[in-house]
Amino acid sequence: MKKVNKKKSAPAQPTADRKKKEAAPAPAPEREEKKPAAILQAQAEEKAPEKESAALQLQETQAICETLPKTDGQKTEKGGKGMKILFAASEGLPFIASGGLGDVAGSLPKALRERRQDCRVVLPLYGDMKPELRQKLHYLCNFTVQLAWRNQYCGVFEATENGVTYYFIDNEYYFRRNGIYGFFDDGERFAFFSKAIVDMLRHIDFKPDILHCNDWQTALVPVYLNCYYRVDEFYRDIRTVFTIHNIQYQGQYGPDMIGDVLGLPQGFVEYEGCCNLMKGAIVQSDIVSTVSPTYAHEILDEWYAHGMDRLLRENCWKLRGILNGIDTVGYDPQTDKHIYKNYSAAEPEGKAVNKQNLQRDMGLCQSGDIMVVGLISRLVSHKGLDLVKYIFPRIIEEGMAVVVLGSGDYMYESFFQEMAATYPDKVAVRLGFIPDLARKIYAGADVLLMPSKSEPCGLAQMVACRYGTIPVVRKTGGLADSIIDLGDPDGCGYTFQSYNAHDMFGAIKRAQGLYYNKPAWNRAVQHAMQVDFSWNKSAGEYIRMYEELNERR
Ligand code: GLC
Repeated sequence: MKKVNKKKSAPAQPTADRKKKEAAPAPAPEREEKKPAAILQAQAEEKAPEKESAALQLQETQAICETLPKTDGQKTEKGGKGMKILFAASEGLPFIASGGLGDVAGSLPKALRERRQDCRVVLPLYGDMKPELRQKLHYLCNFTVQLAWRNQYCGVFEATENGVTYYFIDNEYYFRRNGIYGFFDDGERFAFFSKAIVDMLRHIDFKPDILHCNDWQTALVPVYLNCYYRVDEFYRDIRTVFTIHNIQYQGQYGPDMIGDVLGLPQGFVEYEGCCNLMKGAIVQSDIVSTVSPTYAHEILDEWYAHGMDRLLRENCWKLRGILNGIDTVGYDPQTDKHIYKNYSAAEPEGKAVNKQNLQRDMGLCQSGDIMVVGLISRLVSHKGLDLVKYIFPRIIEEGMAVVVLGSGDYMYESFFQEMAATYPDKVAVRLGFIPDLARKIYAGADVLLMPSKSEPCGLAQMVACRYGTIPVVRKTGGLADSIIDLGDPDGCGYTFQSYNAHDMFGAIKRAQGLYYNKPAWNRAVQHAMQVDFSWNKSAGEYIRMYEELNERR
């Protein structure tokens, strides 16, 4: 266990002196970047009351896109000294996860660590964490966090996993509940988490060069930092990155929340009459990133941006997109203990055994002639499920079987349950977040369907390839950046462009066409398994981004 240098630590409660300073918010630090003329002009136009036409807006967006920094994956990372990075997230494997953010917070810090960066992670200490994982935690210290008029206890625990140090923020009132999100006071819970992260830095033996925050739950970290802490020498040179994993979830609340709960002056998080935590992070962070280059461009457009396009266009000089990778050691059909039989690109025969077992366990007709389509997804509208609903009977009529795993909106859950009742040996549905079953589907299905309306990155299409399951995806966000259509010799999946059920069906039919051409299909499967979806390239891009920020200190 790391020793805490209590002497170095500042008192947990702010002194009277410091309180006075806090009353006058510090101005945001001067930014060094110059905004390109095209952006300034676009911003000026943006202030005009009405947009003249959709075409004009598209031109505007394209002009801004031209100015986005291009991430160059070819450059080799500097081998120099490692940096200290604190990765703040509301979930992270192996401790707790409910979706893709948990995967990234598990695998990216590990990849950075392997590349000599001192990357550590901070998570809330949820009551839902499995007891065997909780056992690994050691108590480190405690202090009081001030949140508006509240003074709340905060404990810090520590654990090491895969060489990465994890800090856990403990407050049982906020985090000892069943489930991790979806409570009436989520805004307050994660405001506490964010403030506690900033306070914690004074109490542990680790001062990061870069604080890397993720999604709205940690959006207030750069806000609190700039609003209250920069006056303190200790905090002055910490740089911040804010990564958007999904722009749909912004942490939006009524305006009363700002003073009474967050304890912030109005301007920092006020956006279009509401309290919007993501707005605060976009404005206050040194760099805003998202999880694929295509999504970084898409969110400048109102079709994708859920109301944030104006703000993002104003801040696009600090916006960039870096494609996620997956943990290729954790997701490896050759060693995966949860699948029926291990296999690899060199010896792919075991995949057929996985298919037979999956068909049996899911109550489907057991036949190698039926193409099995997997759908592993949160069952929500932006995953493109309306297209699937629209065309579903045709998929079955064409002799395919469908396995659905996920949970979400009642409308989709009940639709898929109804389909399973209508076609019992062709459609199987399991509602829930069941990681072990997901792995069995990756291994046993022939095709994975991801027709997302928008997809910031998507990890399932990469995992599918790794397990020799051909993805059928809509060309959007990270799906466009990771899956090349099999019309190209380098292809590893099937893609379609417009958000249209018939186009999606066309892509599924192209997959089925290849499926019945066994030699060609086997070649495609083998190739998909060999595509490199690891963090090799993207971890280097993150390091270069951190280095660029570090040079600004
Ligand atoms: C969110 C996004 C998904 C992305 C993941 C990790 O879940 O919806 O596209 O892959 O975050 O960044």
